Amino acid sequence: MKTRRVLTAITMAVIAFFFSATPLPVAASVVEHTFVVSQMNVTRLCKETLVTVVNGQLPGPVIDVTEGDSVVVHVVNKSPSNITIHWHGVKQWMNCWADGVPMITQYPIQPNHNFTYQLNITGQEGTLWWHAHVPGLRATLHGAFIIRPRHGASSYPFPKPHKEIPIIIGDWWQMDLALLEKHFKKEIVDDLPVAATINGKIGDLYNCSGAVEDGYVLDVEPGKTYLLRIINAVLFSEYYLKVAGHKFTVVAADANYVNPYTTDVIAVAPGETVDALMVADAPQGRYYMVGLPNQAPLPDPQIPVFITRGMVSYKSDNNHGEEEGDPSNDVPMVPEMPDQHDTTTSFYFHGNLTSLHRPQRTKVPVQVDEHMFITLGLGSFCPHGRSCEKRWRGKSMGAATMNNVSFQLSADMAVPLLDAQYYHCNSTSSSGDGIKLYTLPDNPPRPFDFTNPALTPDGSEAALLQRTIRATAVRRFRYGTVVDMVFQSTSLLQTDSNPMHLHGHDMFVLAQGRGNYNASRDVASYNLVDPPMKNTVLVPRIGWVAIRFVADNPGVWFMHCHYEFHLMMGMAAVFIIEDGPTVDSILPPPPLNHPKCGHVNSLKANELYLLDNKVVSPA
Ligand code: C2O
Repeated sequence: MKTRRVLTAITMAVIAFFFSATPLPVAASVVEHTFVVSQMNVTRLCKETLVTVVNGQLPGPVIDVTEGDSVVVHVVNKSPSNITIHWHGVKQWMNCWADGVPMITQYPIQPNHNFTYQLNITGQEGTLWWHAHVPGLRATLHGAFIIRPRHGASSYPFPKPHKEIPIIIGDWWQMDLALLEKHFKKEIVDDLPVAATINGKIGDLYNCSGAVEDGYVLDVEPGKTYLLRIINAVLFSEYYLKVAGHKFTVVAADANYVNPYTTDVIAVAPGETVDALMVADAPQGRYYMVGLPNQAPLPDPQIPVFITRGMVSYKSDNNHGEEEGDPSNDVPMVPEMPDQHDTTTSFYFHGNLTSLHRPQRTKVPVQVDEHMFITLGLGSFCPHGRSCEKRWRGKSMGAATMNNVSFQLSADMAVPLLDAQYYHCNSTSSSGDGIKLYTLPDNPPRPFDFTNPALTPDGSEAALLQRTIRATAVRRFRYGTVVDMVFQSTSLLQTDSNPMHLHGHDMFVLAQGRGNYNASRDVASYNLVDPPMKNTVLVPRIGWVAIRFVADNPGVWFMHCHYEFHLMMGMAAVFIIEDGPTVDSILPPPPLNHPKCGHVNSLKANELYLLDNKVVSPA
């Protein structure tokens, strides 16, 4: 007994010495959350709207973890919609099961059902976010996902900020967003938001009957540095963000450190995140923080510009209360914003990102195994022998495509694609030979001058170019394949940019350009030294982006445009990454809570997904 006690004391002393002598990382822990998804009434702009939220919060709860932690999230669905939650940008290494894409990695969580996600956060630091992966509903079902360095804030590759603040740009809709996709399917395409928000607040540019909307206020102390973790969660616009009288130093994008880049404007597209330092070095006072969306100019269809406005407000010790007596002191400064049709500012912002050199930075592989060239655009389903109409707002809905294939899940799909792949089980509700997967072609069916808007008129030539097929587009990659992919935005029917998001991987962004990509000219411009790594790459309007990624995370990964309308219209594909040769390159079996093939076999699973909102009795 005594000996043991002595030994224990010695052990303790050794441990204590060890702890005091070595700066130890924070021990990995398990971070647990419960997300109750439900509907609540929110009054904005004098109108009560029923919105779907997590834990009654808008934006939803922040997940705040340290690299190396495990995260467990119990989702309790008390809403009338089918839900899944996607952890946007989390690599989900060997853990595709928790990626949260309905009928691709899991069955949707039905009303009055629960599902538990288990994630391991390894090898990533910075700002990511989570959102529902259900058409429309992610506008209110989202929140920040912050990963802190294991060795604490002093290990940031930049001066430790005084405070860290998530800045989520969102939009505000006065409709039941579960209807968005239904309307789309019925070709009602004039649903629009009514305002934009910063951290859930609309701001003082909007009022109803004279009552000005609340805006987000960031209180700052003079001389202190703030790390803004900026997330664009809106459904379909890239935003510019400025704070009057202040500059930003961009230090990370999509949870990857970048070489510090100083700018007075941030450009952030849906799906992207930007971490930027802001020093409160302006004269004391109040400064507007403004978010303004950009859009392609006419003749593209125009949507109203929803500007949101918050405030940076200096705390002052010496003149408390006095400001109110002197209104001239108190007129907040307004930043000068880019024009709503200026997409050049975004082009340069993105082009200025380079990845920061650190020992743990992933090197760009030089040997490329496969090349793909993917055109992004709108298409039409042309009735035989007739020309296609321009199909967009005011007319009927068309399709959005990758190499003229518009993604759609098969109508009689009964098992999520990942399960079907993993268990080789019958994936249809009928007893056929499983759903037909269509291979995403490596090139567009017809090369043409992709970015010449003169090619967009109605006519048989344009009709041919727009000819589209609807299919479950997949592309298989052998484990470890190094893939070069050029995304080319086209000017067919519209000239939007396209923020392309790949689940489960980061992509090296090698180069971008205006107009048509030309391999013999453009390969020379590839940055193979310090390209930024992103999970979402903004393909500029009438331009292209070249990316490289390593297909080294086995599973079934969604790749899609993060503009909700483009996604609903089918600008998506699935990348199937095969198991590797070693034990640790084989996708492990799903966690026990994951229903296996056939568990929901009596329900037509596609109805759960495609006919969103329909309450199906549990199996
Ligand atoms: Cu943030 Cu598949 O999406």
